[in-house]
Amino acid sequence: MKILVVGNGGREHALAWKLGQSKRVDQVFVAPGNAGTATDAENVAIPSDNIAGLIDFAKKNVVGLTVVGPEAPLALGLVDAMEREGLRVFGPRQNAAQLESSKVFCKDTLRKASVPTAEYHVFRDAESAVQFIRDRYPHEDQRAPVVVKADGLAAGKGVIVCGTQQEAIEAIHVLTGEFGEAAKRLVIEERLEGQEASVLAITDGQTILTLPAAQDHKPALDGDRGPNTGGMGAYTPTPLVTEDMMDWIHEHVLVPTVHAMKRDRTPFSGVLYAGLMVTHKGPKVLEYNVRFGDPECQPILMRLKSDLLDILEATVDRRLGEIEPPEWDPRSAVCVVMASEGYPGAYRKGHPIRGLVDADQLEDVKVFHAGTRLDENGQVLTDGGRVLGVTALGNTISAAKLQAYKAVKCIRWQGAWCRKDISDKALLPSNS
Ligand code: AMP
Ligand code: GLY
Repeated sequence: MKILVVGNGGREHALAWKLGQSKRVDQVFVAPGNAGTATDAENVAIPSDNIAGLIDFAKKNVVGLTVVGPEAPLALGLVDAMEREGLRVFGPRQNAAQLESSKVFCKDTLRKASVPTAEYHVFRDAESAVQFIRDRYPHEDQRAPVVVKADGLAAGKGVIVCGTQQEAIEAIHVLTGEFGEAAKRLVIEERLEGQEASVLAITDGQTILTLPAAQDHKPALDGDRGPNTGGMGAYTPTPLVTEDMMDWIHEHVLVPTVHAMKRDRTPFSGVLYAGLMVTHKGPKVLEYNVRFGDPECQPILMRLKSDLLDILEATVDRRLGEIEPPEWDPRSAVCVVMASEGYPGAYRKGHPIRGLVDADQLEDVKVFHAGTRLDENGQVLTDGGRVLGVTALGNTISAAKLQAYKAVKCIRWQGAWCRKDISDKALLPSNS
């Protein structure tokens, strides 16, 4: 079978790499891909939002399954369009993808389904949002533990966590100023305290298959300081989410959400990714994503022993309940993101990357590419903010971490940097 993976990040490299291992897969295409997918698969120069182009390619090349990586094409309705053409495609339809593309839709679904989440209010303009904050927190420097969110997709920049009244009001102005359409509605919610975990599940709308829980590292700097990023590293499994907690999340978060989506005639099929805050009152949903997490996908797929194609096909065919549960490598996996100088702010592209082969040759290491491209001589160049996801397996989280950083040491380019503490959260006292 021929597979088409849509996207160009580390997640898509991991998906293409894993699908390429299936005995039933003859060829994996990635649109548009990066330098890593050019090696492990075959790139096709179609941007992930070119729906007509992707459909045309899938038809002409007799693609048996398309797997959509990022949220943007899902929110644009790529799955609906492909299904209309009789093509098989993994991912939620546009109306179900609203769980990620609209925070208001997500919060309303959670409320209807009685899934634990932060208290929230929805506003249609900045004035009423500001008024709400002033009414509730009358003094400028008063503590105001709230989070202000733009309703729509804002490339991870639409959420501002606030501490004071002033910060909250500024956040409202920043979001409405910066994200016109995406911030037409605002959500203001209670700020939760705790540790964050990512619980991803694959569902066909009926059966829910949870994947091992992971933890991302969103802030740029060690110790979770500095500006927010797309994710500077991830590891799995995490001791934060015990087996009991996973059962609880299945029963009280995932099942009611999938049921609510079905009842509301927006049945969900694909990856349901719950971003959770583990509070002292138990886990609460911060957000849903409707696709694999990046970078969580990389360490999770490193541990998957079963054929990913079997799982994705069973999802598309609505027979996920009929397949054997997947087999997982009992070892831990840690993924360290190497980034460009300046990221998450402005950065330069086009630096040659050295040492990739040495890193990849280390035992139990896989270097997933994110923002990279090949030049005409076959040299790998930096081409984005998050450049590589250096991923390693180990008998313990510490061993996996050690191996991942050993691989990181092999790799060099001008201005390359990474966090040094990926997976240390696993060792926090609250985690043991
Ligand atoms: P979201 O895109 O909704 O996941 O928000 C991005 C990040 O903002 C999350 O990963 C959290 O770190 C933070 N965040 C979102 N909602 C809340 C909340 N209610 N309380 C505390 N932090 C939050
Ligand atoms: N790891 C965060 C995300 O994929 O949105």
